[in-house]
Amino acid sequence: MDTRPFNAAARAAEYEHRDPADTVRLALETFPNIAISFSGAEDVVLIDMAVKIRPDVGIFSLDTGRLHAETYRFLEQVRKHYHVVIEVLSPDAAELEKLVREKGLFSFYRDGHKECCGVRKVMPLRRKLATLDAWITGQRKDQSPGTRASVPVVEEDRAFSSANRTLFKFNPLAPWSSAQVWHYIRANGVPANELHQRGFISIGCEPCTRPVLPNQHEREGRWWWEEETMKECGLHAGSPPVVGSG
Ligand code: ADX
Ligand code: SF4
Repeated sequence: MDTRPFNAAARAAEYEHRDPADTVRLALETFPNIAISFSGAEDVVLIDMAVKIRPDVGIFSLDTGRLHAETYRFLEQVRKHYHVVIEVLSPDAAELEKLVREKGLFSFYRDGHKECCGVRKVMPLRRKLATLDAWITGQRKDQSPGTRASVPVVEEDRAFSSANRTLFKFNPLAPWSSAQVWHYIRANGVPANELHQRGFISIGCEPCTRPVLPNQHEREGRWWWEEETMKECGLHAGSPPVVGSG
């Protein structure tokens, strides 16, 4: 076993052009205390890759309370298909009730999405990440030219590390295109969220996601009332380059 301190930059350079399954293996073999952050979209391929290496891999989903019914059904389908435990995390009840009491249920259209994402996604994520040494996400470079163009396959998580603890973040799919992800899904019989059959490419919360038209970029279906460089919700705030993200 390699006992040297984990050098994320060196490993990112080494794994940049490797198969994502190799990066998943590196992550699982280096960090026993790690989990996959599963959004209920095409990041299901991470689960497919991981269970072949570690059948009881940790998986969590941030249940914002605003996901599509199809996404809830898909979480359940994935749970049964892979015989895995998916930890479904809820927002803090008091924080959420305060937000809704003061601003209503659709404040994001008026005030921007950061505040609602903060309560429904980022706070529960912060709570979960405090218990882990590393996490695995489905971020890809091609998902957002404005904010994800230089996402590495592994990095120190600058948003959620603390002064006395470095948290590592693996993005095994970073070098893959959407086409490669979908090729993998078809070739391996991986289940898919039924929303994809209805024009959705990127999938987030129901009020903040819409299908895209031919030749529209997938990110245009997310928070479409905001400009491109604002389209991060705080989950991936530390990923370079940080352009107006929260
Ligand atoms: S987001 O920040 O804009 O919402 P996106 O939908 O592109 O993120 O997904 C990128 C990755 O972020 C996913 O593959 C997943 O790892 C993580 N992620 C996004 N939303 C969730 C969620 N609700 N629960 C768990 N992980 C999520
Ligand atoms: Fe709230 Fe929309 Fe963010 Fe979901 S994506 S947490 S509904 S602002």
